[in-house]
Amino acid sequence: MDLHNEAVKIREAAAKAIQACRTTEDIEAVRVKYVGRKGRLTQLLRKLGDVPAEQRKEAGRILNETKEELTSLLTSRRSEIEESVRQQVRASETIDVTLPGRKPRLGKLHPTLRVLDEIVNVFIGLGFAVVEGPEIETEYNNFDALNFPPWHPSRDDFDSFYVAEGYVLRTHTSPAQIRVMKSQDPPVRVIVPGRCYRRDTPDASHLMSFFQIEGLYVDHDVSLADLKGTLAIFAREVFGPQTKIRFRPHYFPFTEPSAELDISCLVCAGKGCRLCKHSGWLEVLGCGMVHPNVFKHVGYDHRAVTGFAFGLGVERIAMLKYGIADIRTLYENDVRVLNGL
Ligand code: PHE
Repeated sequence: MDLHNEAVKIREAAAKAIQACRTTEDIEAVRVKYVGRKGRLTQLLRKLGDVPAEQRKEAGRILNETKEELTSLLTSRRSEIEESVRQQVRASETIDVTLPGRKPRLGKLHPTLRVLDEIVNVFIGLGFAVVEGPEIETEYNNFDALNFPPWHPSRDDFDSFYVAEGYVLRTHTSPAQIRVMKSQDPPVRVIVPGRCYRRDTPDASHLMSFFQIEGLYVDHDVSLADLKGTLAIFAREVFGPQTKIRFRPHYFPFTEPSAELDISCLVCAGKGCRLCKHSGWLEVLGCGMVHPNVFKHVGYDHRAVTGFAFGLGVERIAMLKYGIADIRTLYENDVRVLNGL
């Protein structure tokens, strides 16, 4: 057998096979086939012993050179393949910097809180200070000091949550009036935002827990005209400059005279529609001049000072502003609904 010829044939066949390789698995297969332990060239090298001694050196050199050559061809083809795989990966992982970014979803304040902030800010602008009171109140502050007679129906278990002897979850923010006046001398000009509780069965217009904002202004010469002027500004700021207001006589134990404030209907501007039940007006809050008996309870001289107070339901105003028909919407907190508000 002509070892030299054989080596040249193997070299040519192997070089072709290496060129045709597409994957590193192909490379490995070619390597095993030609230069592996049972590969064609390896087998040829084993036959070197059969070659006559004087030719053996030359034949050995040729075979070893061929092996080195094939090994280096395999190595360089392998790196070519690896490089092209890397390039493909790189191309597929390219970041398109011209793609518009995805906006992260931003949270926002709950509509009830938004309206509460807005109203509070109007009164801050008018010089009112913001204070808070506890949600668990004494029966005395919640009722007695506010001139509720002992037999008043809202004291009933059915209307109030009694938490212990003499304590209730406040049914309105008005007890904060007592706390503020007991802690300071006139002039007093405060608003009190906060949560209140009543034993109502939840329906489209009632919740067991809701927010109120109380207002109280006491000084030496506060009149009903001050109340009217203050609430007119509030109505225009919160509901828009075209808003008209009217007082309707009402009754609260802790104010005299008492009134409810109506605003011209936000939907029909007074012509009459479903929202205002064809009256042209929407009821927004209760108010009045502080009753002398309340001043007596807090130790103010009821002959020397006068004052006005008002209390409004925040959810009710949020419903009017956002056109929400059912107050429970504001407590169910369905994000799909809240996002649209
Ligand atoms: N506290 C009353 C209520 O909850 C509202 C009110 C406050 C009325 C202050 C007059 C003065 O209905």
